[in-house]
Amino acid sequence: MKITVEKIRAMKGRERISMLTAYDYSTAKVMDQAGIDIVLIGDSLGMVVLGFDTTQKVTMQDMIRHTGAVARGIKNSHIVADMPYKSYDNEKDALKNAKLLLEAGADSVKTEKKPEIAGFLVKNGINVMGHIGLTPQTITNFKVQGKDYETAKKIKEEAIALEKAGCYSLILECIPMRLAKDITKAVKIPTIGIGAGPYCDGQVLVINDMLGLFTDFKPKFVKRYAELSSIMKKAVEDYNKDIKERKFPDDEHSFH
Ligand code: KIV
Repeated sequence: MKITVEKIRAMKGRERISMLTAYDYSTAKVMDQAGIDIVLIGDSLGMVVLGFDTTQKVTMQDMIRHTGAVARGIKNSHIVADMPYKSYDNEKDALKNAKLLLEAGADSVKTEKKPEIAGFLVKNGINVMGHIGLTPQTITNFKVQGKDYETAKKIKEEAIALEKAGCYSLILECIPMRLAKDITKAVKIPTIGIGAGPYCDGQVLVINDMLGLFTDFKPKFVKRYAELSSIMKKAVEDYNKDIKERKFPDDEHSFH
């Protein structure tokens, strides 16, 4: 059964929400079959798939293409598409671009901060997931956010503003677990953490990180469930060797 925003809201306090990023059809299909609640086409696409050093270089065209690919692999999971940098600077652009992502197959969109834009989208019938704490599109200091009283207070206020704006859930990225616990208690919508400790209503990771496929760096909060990069390297080395030694293609893999 398709996971709707109503179901996600109702999961708060009842069932933990599982979420992962995906960028392509095959990976999305595995996630759907594995029962992941929410699949996010994150703008982390820019770094782990396209090889940029920032998410800021991701365009609407990139997001539309990859949202379509993911959506074609999914039957049940809720599909969230990230609104890329500069695609929601004003109400008109935000609405136009959010509609394009929904047309590509997303069930809802995610914006970083900007409660006034999130509120405008919600008023226009778009389901919005908020994102606070470390927000890669605008931040320059890639460290844990909200470690002192003033910044923690500001992040909590942002959470409340996004809830008031009508967001159906909130990503809390890279904040101390005590602050995440406090925000999770303070809002009625589910919080989904990444580097925010165990007290959120759900958890998200970047698939390339948790599978050990992206190895340029590993944030402390990433738990690796596989080491795919080494497995792939070994397979590619074996293939290379077979070619050089004329072991492949053999009779079994040839047409008669
Ligand atoms: O782009 C992304 O992958 C994200 C997650 C880290 C939440 O926004």
